[in-house]
Amino acid sequence: VRCSVEPMLRASPETLQARFLRVRAQTEALCAELSAEDAGAQSMPDASPAKWHLAHTSWFFETFVLSNTPGFRAFRPEYGYLFNSYYEALGARVARAARGLITRPPLSEIYEYRRVVTARVAELLETAHGPTDALRALVELGVNHEEQHQELILTDVKHLLGQSPLAPVYCSSLPAEPAAAVSMALPAHVFREFAAGLVPIGHDGPGFSFDNEGPAHLHYLLAYALGTRLVTNGEYLEFMRDGGYERAELWLSDGFRWKKQNDVSRPLYWDASTGELVQVFTLGGPRPLALDEPVCHVSYYEADAYARWSGARLPSEAEWEHAVRHEAVDGNLLETGRLHPRVLRALTENQSFGDVWEWTSSAYSPYPGYRTLDGALGEYNGKFMCNQMVLRGGSCVTPRAHIRASYRNFFPPETRWQFAGIRLARYS
Ligand SMILES: [Fe+2]
Repeated sequence: VRCSVEPMLRASPETLQARFLRVRAQTEALCAELSAEDAGAQSMPDASPAKWHLAHTSWFFETFVLSNTPGFRAFRPEYGYLFNSYYEALGARVARAARGLITRPPLSEIYEYRRVVTARVAELLETAHGPTDALRALVELGVNHEEQHQELILTDVKHLLGQSPLAPVYCSSLPAEPAAAVSMALPAHVFREFAAGLVPIGHDGPGFSFDNEGPAHLHYLLAYALGTRLVTNGEYLEFMRDGGYERAELWLSDGFRWKKQNDVSRPLYWDASTGELVQVFTLGGPRPLALDEPVCHVSYYEADAYARWSGARLPSEAEWEHAVRHEAVDGNLLETGRLHPRVLRALTENQSFGDVWEWTSSAYSPYPGYRTLDGALGEYNGKFMCNQMVLRGGSCVTPRAHIRASYRNFFPPETRWQFAGIRLARYS
């Protein structure tokens, strides 16, 4: 089996059982070319081994779906300690930074765990009258949770392979990248205007959403303008050449301190050891920097400093959501198989979905009237609503079925290993 991100044929409309089985198989396909050594290593405390992701996503179904069924017996009782991520209500667990030390059970046993859990959940969904609403809701949450971890597998594997002096290629079946980019004369930044007004924000309608996307509510926006495309590597390079990383007046205080403490002078995965000719590490191995590709792997601090340098600002999450509310979800998402941001292909393309997560100026906070789910699942989102910034739009490693206009991703402002980039905004 080669690693594959090609979507399997799906019936329309797809049953929950079919979606469940497709997502479970997709996770395994993403790991198919990882050796046991690749899958077990942890490159930093924020990144988890692929083996841990494979197990944790199964633990999630076992804990929140299967454990409520008659005659349930855990696959291995100790897995609760090994593969619980952060649920305090469910007890003690391995420290996040020590996940790479779980060398036993072996990877083969984790795959056996996956087979058993997949079969049991699929069987539950097979009932004559269809699953109950409560069961459906839990399985849908588990499927969406697993899609989040598919993205994390790719970001974490990229970070791991990026540490190797051999700069290995993640997957031999990635599409070939065009040769070094030649500037295709991208137009100067264009801004689309939006009128002031009270606009609907948040998920409101059919289909799955996480609890943090609601309740839907009205939000007042001043007149603003939003960049019609993402900021490119070439534009970011101009910021660097203009002394952007050294000019304190462009930076937030926290950001300037972070930059100095960590000796940051370029986006993550840019290797300038060859001089002006920057090499970039990708999941397809090292490549020359393509000037017209969206800039990627920058922190909130860098995105904010760039925006200030360019005479603009980052959009708020409400400005972003209002602008894309009626757009179809399409773009360079996981299913293109590129696993890297893509050069703008047409001037009508605005890169809202896919390519890179877009940092917003919004702190991750609850919407008015927000309530967490009952029980341990109340820990899924709500307890993280402090000291993080919201990102919107999904990236080149986000599954298409996972992203929507109301989706709120969140990371601390210094985060760089996620596929995160920059869209500009300004007041009209
Ligand atoms: Fe998780």
